[in-house]
Amino acid sequence: MIPEITVYSPATIANLVCGFDVLGLALAEPADKMTIRLLSERTVIVRHTDDFGLPEEAARNCAGAALLAMVEELPANIGFEVVCEKRIKPGSGIGSSAASAAGAVVGANMLLDGKFSNNDLVRFAMSGEEVASGSRHADNIAPCIFGGITLIRSNHPVDIVAIDSPPLYVTVVHPQIEVKTSDARAILKKQIFLKDAVTQWGNVAGLVAGLMKGDYGLIGRSLEDVIVEPVRSILIPGFAELKSRCKAAGALGGGIAGAGPSVFMLSTSAAIAQSVAEAIDSVYGPMGIPYHTYITTISPQGVRVVDDGLC
Ligand code: HSE
Repeated sequence: MIPEITVYSPATIANLVCGFDVLGLALAEPADKMTIRLLSERTVIVRHTDDFGLPEEAARNCAGAALLAMVEELPANIGFEVVCEKRIKPGSGIGSSAASAAGAVVGANMLLDGKFSNNDLVRFAMSGEEVASGSRHADNIAPCIFGGITLIRSNHPVDIVAIDSPPLYVTVVHPQIEVKTSDARAILKKQIFLKDAVTQWGNVAGLVAGLMKGDYGLIGRSLEDVIVEPVRSILIPGFAELKSRCKAAGALGGGIAGAGPSVFMLSTSAAIAQSVAEAIDSVYGPMGIPYHTYITTISPQGVRVVDDGLC
């Protein structure tokens, strides 16, 4: 019998407003379902059972490219087949490409009895992320693998720090428009003013300290981005109004999820997260924009083995 494993690979939110490319969190839902099989030759086969039309050629597929990076560091008689049932819509801003890449390498590593460290897995999965966005960022991949909230202190060498947090509820709205991560990166300024950098690193440090101390006020004050959001928010319909109504409904704060177009808001209770979803309805309903809203929490676990058939 061919050894195989089936995993859930969670959606993630990168940046967490002020931490461009360095902060991210894992969501309790949605998650992709993936089955990985161990093969006895150096090959990577990718199949999709979803309808997203993603390429199945391994080098052009996020899961495939991540596995190709892994097999290069394995003996020549080891390869993998991965069957992806994607539930995280590509291009939604909640880490669809990272879920494919991370789920594939975590599952493959389980079949190898944990030969590689989590940091190695982040390194392999970044090759998958590069296929999707042209950039080796790890702020979706790290929380997808480690779970919870993660700080990417360094990409090269990989240095990931787990950040504790108090209970937080996450409301995510996905307006049904496409924003390509590569485009959303291309429009960013390559140089920034020192005064903006000072504001930004004050907020990153404040957010990390607020999360670790369980200080909701500090978390809320730190959810501000003076560098990326002013540029990218023009891609998201009604962004300023959305943010202001969500905060008026009680959200601690929030902003663009990853490169967008999804927007996320953090709240201290399920009831507030629900009011935030209603505030979103009040903006997007009249605008006639099709959208999908999730109310969820932070998942303490990253990629996990399917054991109950529920997700
Ligand atoms: N940090 C990345 C970006 C995340 O904002 O471009 C993309 O998912």
